[in-house]
Amino acid sequence: MLRLLGNIPGARWIMRKLYSVEHPSLEREVFGLKFRNPIGIAAGFDRNGDVFRELDALGFGFVEIGTVTPLAQPGNPKPRIFRIGNDQAILNRIGLASKGLERVISNLRHNRENIIIGCNIGKNTVTPPENAPADYLRVFRNLYQYVDYFTVNVSYNTTFKQYVPRTRESIMEIIEPLFDFRRGQNQYRPILLKISPDLSNEDVDMMTDIMIDTPLDGIVATNATTRAQGLKTSVEQMKRYGAGAISGAPLTKRAIEVVKRIYDRSNGTYPIIGVGGLMTAEDVQAMLAAGATLVQVYTGYVYNGARFPAKICRSLIEQAESKAQ
Ligand SMILES: Cc1cc2nc3c(=O)[nH]c(=O)nc-3n(C[C@H](O)[C@H](O)[C@H](O)COP(=O)(O)O)c2cc1C
Repeated sequence: MLRLLGNIPGARWIMRKLYSVEHPSLEREVFGLKFRNPIGIAAGFDRNGDVFRELDALGFGFVEIGTVTPLAQPGNPKPRIFRIGNDQAILNRIGLASKGLERVISNLRHNRENIIIGCNIGKNTVTPPENAPADYLRVFRNLYQYVDYFTVNVSYNTTFKQYVPRTRESIMEIIEPLFDFRRGQNQYRPILLKISPDLSNEDVDMMTDIMIDTPLDGIVATNATTRAQGLKTSVEQMKRYGAGAISGAPLTKRAIEVVKRIYDRSNGTYPIIGVGGLMTAEDVQAMLAAGATLVQVYTGYVYNGARFPAKICRSLIEQAESKAQ
């Protein structure tokens, strides 16, 4: 739909007029990049970089494409995304469907414009754990010139049998080659780690320490959960949907808690992208108050519709203006 719209001459201009909110109080400078507002669209929405221009026109301050894997892979069989209305949530078991690196390059090569694009990177499902670092590096080096920052996805496990690097050693094996490659480049690309809300607090601290001890630039917290509790939807109904990761309202509290924990442990000295269950402008304000520098939405966008970024932006402007008085 978005791609079709984007192909109509003038459509993006109209979308921008309708949905984009500009104001100096919304602007942020984070890791050397100038964001026109702090609201991004989270990974998984534009997996192959097909619609980032349209998402920009719809008022997002940045777009995180991906997860991009080196080779194309179909992900799990459909249906694999379910709207759980009673809980303002989505269950998904897409399992890293990606059209692969080459497709993304061809999308990003032209008309890059002034849009801030992050790229979430991962490994192919068939790649054995010992070769995971090579997969991440391959996507990283091939897309280095096309995007503004990278997110190393060490949290996405909706394929279930998928290997997820969780120990300090396995994460270091993935990120060190990225730092080495970056050292040889003229342009600096920030590298962030995207973590799961299902980590224990000790593991969140371990991830934070990796950020502090290495040239990592920040953390994206959090991905969807596989441990949602207290859902209004019955257990029987959830069983019918089958396995998957849950995003949206059931995640709000934990995502904010994780961001606060990272912020406190790192003394607020690193950028944190807060994501998870931001369903209202108030949720976004709470996430920013917990220490997030930027935020991302996915499920909240699905439930609130196209005006959601504008609504959040307006509430942030109001908040800034009332503070200034
Ligand atoms: C359908 C769907 C697909 C997703 N795909 C990815 C993905 O490919 N990579 C990733 O890092 N996160 C992915 N996510 C997780 C989101 O980026 C986000 O971290 C999570 O949904 C929590 O935010 P939300 O509650 O605003 O949706 C996906 C989420 C959904 C709902």
